[in-house]
Amino acid sequence: KNQKALLYFFIFLFYFIKTYSFGCFPFFAFSYEFDVTKCMFSAGNITEKLRVAAFDCRGQTVVDLYAGIGYFTLPYLVHAGAHHVHACEWNPDAVEALKKNLVSNRVSDRCTVHQGDNRQLQLSDVADRVNLGLIPSSEDGWPVACRLLKKSTGGILHIHQNVTSPFSNTANFPATDDATTLRISGRTSDREIWQAWADDTANRIRCHLKDISGTTWITNIQHIEHVKSYAPHVNHVVLDLECRPA
Ligand SMILES: C[S@@+](CC[C@H](N)C(=O)[O-])C[C@H]1O[C@@H](n2cnc3c(N)ncnc32)[C@H](O)[C@@H]1O
Repeated sequence: KNQKALLYFFIFLFYFIKTYSFGCFPFFAFSYEFDVTKCMFSAGNITEKLRVAAFDCRGQTVVDLYAGIGYFTLPYLVHAGAHHVHACEWNPDAVEALKKNLVSNRVSDRCTVHQGDNRQLQLSDVADRVNLGLIPSSEDGWPVACRLLKKSTGGILHIHQNVTSPFSNTANFPATDDATTLRISGRTSDREIWQAWADDTANRIRCHLKDISGTTWITNIQHIEHVKSYAPHVNHVVLDLECRPA
């Protein structure tokens, strides 16, 4: 009898916290609903979700180019306080779950969902931040992300990528044209590899920005975040790249 009472107590406690803890504890702060057979969800990205939740995005417009079920869209809205988020997603099942999650987290009035291929997005010159949460690479989204940044003030790109570190014996390093694989001889730490990738990415983003706007831009590598080890020698990292018109 006591066990049954305890069980009811915990069920009550769970629903109480789930219902009333919005904005209080990051762990309980959002609820997600989705079909695991049809939508992507990675609990391994939790540190990045918490980092996004700690951003101060008040007054900012954010574009989440690979929104999924709202894994980053929700923390931008609920915790970081973004003024508005444009969430792009082409999987109809994920879009359905995303819309439900926006409603259940009471933020749908501050989010526009764009269903379809983000490369076809009819939007430009609106964003203070663009989130590019796609691995192994979000490179296909770089031109549209550059176009989305505000022309007069620029903004920050959060670029996700799986970066491959070379094996210590370079002779065993597989020959590949993979743009993310950097051939650096000798013993080079993972951090140096990520920095080299970030430098290369910053150069390429500057070229996209110049092509799009016809003017020169300055980029600043604000931060490189290690999200998780994806496979041996492969790490999921995020580059926070500040881009401003010169
Ligand atoms: C790896 S999931 C990540 C979702 C979310 N950022 C997260 O971490 O949970 C990538 C999502 O982007 C969507 N996607 C991939 N390419 C896309 C494109 N070109 N346009 C719109 N959505 C795209 C996929 O359907 C998927 O839901």
